[in-house]
Amino acid sequence: MKNRDTKRVGAYYSDVTDHYLLYGDGFHYGLGTDPSEPHHRRLVRSHELLVSSLRIDSSWRVLDLGCGVGSFAVWCAKTFGCRVVGVNICAAHLALARKRATAQGVAHRSEFVGADFHHLPFHEGTFDLIVNQESLCYARDKAAYFARVHNILRPGGAYRAIAFTRAPGPRRDRAKLRHERVCHGFHIPDLAQLPALTTWLEAAGFEKVKGVDITTETLLTARFIAKHCLIPVALGKVGLDGLVFRQGRRSQLNHRGHFTAGLAYSKGLIDGDFVHGFLSGQRLSAP
Ligand SMILES: C[S@@+](CC[C@H](N)C(=O)[O-])C[C@H]1O[C@@H](n2cnc3c(N)ncnc32)[C@H](O)[C@@H]1O
Repeated sequence: MKNRDTKRVGAYYSDVTDHYLLYGDGFHYGLGTDPSEPHHRRLVRSHELLVSSLRIDSSWRVLDLGCGVGSFAVWCAKTFGCRVVGVNICAAHLALARKRATAQGVAHRSEFVGADFHHLPFHEGTFDLIVNQESLCYARDKAAYFARVHNILRPGGAYRAIAFTRAPGPRRDRAKLRHERVCHGFHIPDLAQLPALTTWLEAAGFEKVKGVDITTETLLTARFIAKHCLIPVALGKVGLDGLVFRQGRRSQLNHRGHFTAGLAYSKGLIDGDFVHGFLSGQRLSAP
């Protein structure tokens, strides 16, 4: 069952999908510090980080929570021959993900499920790997969420996430304002700090928990996105964005929030207000 917040998030993503697609076929920050690389290569490096040090084979079942348009799930099924399940609340994303799986020849190994990841419809011990690629921020109660993710992993199974987080330490006014803009525009309940996320993972029973700051890897993408958002944000400030985004009031507000949040998070990464985090943990192996 979707609650009101989840419905708002789904409506937001449905309204702005075309704009996300302009950044590439994954709705996440690309990783890499070589300016001569194409953006697509950086998007794939984020997938590679999520599976680093794992020996995935065709027997694995991988779950991608908040799977966007299937960028990671389809890449994973194609690269390792494994079975993948993507979960999303946004019907438009699920349709694009299924289309992508078919086009890439992995539809028979992929399933895309319309569900809210606060209410996951899976049995205990089902998955070998569970990932959140820039979707963990939507989990309202991280402790309860991690407990459920832990439960549906097989013993010894891995959890990996790439996550938006707030920088540690006292917050300046600029950082507070950017945090508000990110949460408002992307419809995120709140951004946690990286150490809080690792603490919640451990409390849920995960072992070998790590949280690594990967912000420097995102800076080329952050500059690219900040540049892309500047004109729409400027038009929004003088109320002229309605001329460009003509699909009605809700859609106009969602677009305005989207570009404002994209600019705030990207500039905040560059200025040290936010930390892009890589999280990993493992469910205890069976004795
Ligand atoms: C920033 S996008 C990231 C998409 C994808 N992981 C990627 O890296 O391309 C966040 C995604 O999480 C999904 N999402 C947000 N809240 C969700 C929830 N409660 N349950 C399932 N999916 C959710 C959104 O619809 C969107 O597709």
